[in-house]
Amino acid sequence: MLELTPRLKTIGESIERCNVVADIGSDHAYLPIYLIKNNKANKVIASDINIGPAKISKERIKKYGLENYIEVRIGNGLKVIDKYEADIIVIAGMGGLLIKSIIEERMDVAISADRLILQPMRDSRALISWLLKSSFVIIDGEVIKENEKYYEIIRTCFDEEADRDAEVINEVYYYKNTPVLHEYIDRKIEQYMNIINQLKASNVADSDARMRECIEELNNYREAKKWLILNAEQ
Ligand SMILES: C[S@@+](CC[C@H](N)C(=O)[O-])C[C@H]1O[C@@H](n2cnc3c(N)ncnc32)[C@H](O)[C@@H]1O
Repeated sequence: MLELTPRLKTIGESIERCNVVADIGSDHAYLPIYLIKNNKANKVIASDINIGPAKISKERIKKYGLENYIEVRIGNGLKVIDKYEADIIVIAGMGGLLIKSIIEERMDVAISADRLILQPMRDSRALISWLLKSSFVIIDGEVIKENEKYYEIIRTCFDEEADRDAEVINEVYYYKNTPVLHEYIDRKIEQYMNIINQLKASNVADSDARMRECIEELNNYREAKKWLILNAEQ
């Protein structure tokens, strides 16, 4: 039996039963197999830009006897699917800026889906900021922990009446207020404090701008943590 890691399991479990899911950058096809085996979708499109992962996916899908339910496609981002073809689009395990460009290149496809589930490995704030400016709303988000690493999951959809002027101060305001989110913020605070101490000790010329940036980020995460503590459900 295929057992998903917590990151992919959180994504899989959050998918409400629907007709078609597209898993863009599917790599190993673990998520598509989970979705069909757990009756979350009638069909899953597992796509990847590289032939190698697509070949391995095909073999794995065959091993599970799911060739009639999971279609492997090779190609770049959302270019492999048509408008209204997928109810839910998952783009996980890539950089936030790559996810942004994948959506931007086929906005018509992204807009036509009921929901996008995005799991950026970095640059989540830039991704959220771009989504909001592009008339997407953030339905919710969460931070989960797997092997001492934190992963961010963002659920979003297009809404033509969305407020495009919203300014993103910190990604954490869009996430569920959980103990893991607090741990994630503590880790960020610790990282920025370490960088600040290293910069102080190094005496490297031209580090002023970086120092200011780190102090700003440190204060930003401290502010966010305070806000989350004050706004935690009792
Ligand atoms: C790190 S893996 C993530 C696999 C899986 N989605 C997960 O979260 O575990 C990233 C995959 O995305 C694929 N990829 C990268 N850029 C892509 C693009 N523009 N379109 C489709 N797939 C892409 C890579 O070939 C790779 O298999």
